[in-house]
Amino acid sequence: MGTVISMADLLPEHLERLERAGHTVHVLRDAESHSLGSLLPDADAVICLLTQPITSQFMDATPKLRILANVAVGYENIDFPAAKARDVIVTNTPDVLTESTADHTFALLLAAARRIPEADGTTRKGKFPPWQLQQLLTGTDVYGKILGIVGLGRIGAAVARRGHGGFGMPILYHSRTRKEDLEVELNAQQVSFHNLLARSDFVCVHTPLTPDTRHMFDAEAFVRMKPTAIFVNVARGAIVDEVELVRAIREGSITGAGLDVFEQEPDVHPGLLELHERVVLTPHLGSATAETRTAMGNLAIDNVLAVLAGKPPLTPVS
Ligand code: NAP
Ligand code: GLV
Repeated sequence: MGTVISMADLLPEHLERLERAGHTVHVLRDAESHSLGSLLPDADAVICLLTQPITSQFMDATPKLRILANVAVGYENIDFPAAKARDVIVTNTPDVLTESTADHTFALLLAAARRIPEADGTTRKGKFPPWQLQQLLTGTDVYGKILGIVGLGRIGAAVARRGHGGFGMPILYHSRTRKEDLEVELNAQQVSFHNLLARSDFVCVHTPLTPDTRHMFDAEAFVRMKPTAIFVNVARGAIVDEVELVRAIREGSITGAGLDVFEQEPDVHPGLLELHERVVLTPHLGSATAETRTAMGNLAIDNVLAVLAGKPPLTPVS
């Protein structure tokens, strides 16, 4: 039976599953916890969150470690080459969060397009505007507009399905590989990054954060977008140069943004905080529904239970 250290705040049902299998579980809320150092030498499994950097030094302190189970689909917080070099299996939680993250992406897209937070704030302040043709808080149509998806993977495809099926949106995409099945299903068209930027009314990014995608959205990218465009990022903050995003919105290169992720989380660029019109911000909530977070915890535990039982993990990172 093994020792499991969880830096994720597991639910009681998650803990029960590990304990029922005979494992000893220590739940520590963060990597700075004072008891962590003394527990690491015994750890067979570590369950971690995307906010916790898992470095080679961390792994040096865990000589028995067999699995690092990240409770997230993104895993750039883990030094994957260091884990591989030590034969430590890394797992993530794909698929179970795809639909909730796609819902959140569409929520931000709609909220920015129809100016929902601004309208809510105005209504609550008792400043109910008169109904006029040139209405205060006039937004922009979503139905039938062009949706550009950068990174047509699991979440990108789920967002594209919402746009195509629910909102009659023509779909453009830019990804590393062609997606012929999705081209048939969604009538999606593969285009270059620059072509997508120039033609899309809504640009949603769904790539992982990698050396190739870091600051993919820079000054040049925003200049290439339509001045009426709305940019949505529910992937990773550092895919975007936030200084240039703020500049692009201030100078009218694009109209607005829906952002769930930020370059220096939990800090948010002060320039973004000052932009209220058509800019909607949420604190990394893409997968944050009760059902999905429970499922993510269960998938991480499925992986731990499998590896500690000598079986292959369900969702290894390769
Ligand atoms: P996925 O299925 O692996 O999809 C990622 C897609 O990005 C793939 O289609 C991949 O292309 C494409 N891609 C990778 N590098 C690219 C590049 N340089 N240029 C263009 N496309 C590129 O992953 P997923 O499950 O959809 O998740 C995507 C990301 O969303 C995660 O990595 C995570 O960072 C983020 N996320 C955020 C939240 C949140 O709470 N805000 C929640 C879940 C996930 P190919 O298929 O062609 O290889
Ligand atoms: C969330 O950001 C994830 O990668 O799952």
